[in-house]
Amino acid sequence: MEYSDKVMDHFMNPRNVGEITDASASGMVGNAKCGDIMKVDLKIENGIIVDAKFKTFGCGSAIATSSMATEMIKGKTLDEALELTNKAVAEALDGLPPIKMHCSLLAEQAVKAALKQYYDKNGLMNESNKHLFDMLEDDAHDHGEDQH
Ligand code: FES
Repeated sequence: MEYSDKVMDHFMNPRNVGEITDASASGMVGNAKCGDIMKVDLKIENGIIVDAKFKTFGCGSAIATSSMATEMIKGKTLDEALELTNKAVAEALDGLPPIKMHCSLLAEQAVKAALKQYYDKNGLMNESNKHLFDMLEDDAHDHGEDQH
């Protein structure tokens, strides 16, 4: 399997690993395919993501995509961060092997889960932005279910 230099770089030297103790919001998601989990903490000030950190119990591709995703959302508005797709993250890494694309979903979902918590907490969820969180529904039921 071939990994791009950028994937290798973000895997070997991941950016933004850790936790934010006074995070504005956190998101934790699991990947139904492999059982790996991802947590993202966001620090939000005046509608801007000023810091993002992640912790994962996931594979190298999950680490590389989370590293890139957290880099990409820093300095962005909440709406801009919500538009970040796993595809865009994979492209920024010069691609991922197709069978590893599901790993990149962890990063996107964890960011969205954290944003959802923030939107819920601050009454920002409304009819026009609700659909942006739809993709969280799929895996939401898989939490805490039997491990094989
Ligand atoms: Fe589980 Fe990649 S194999 S996140």
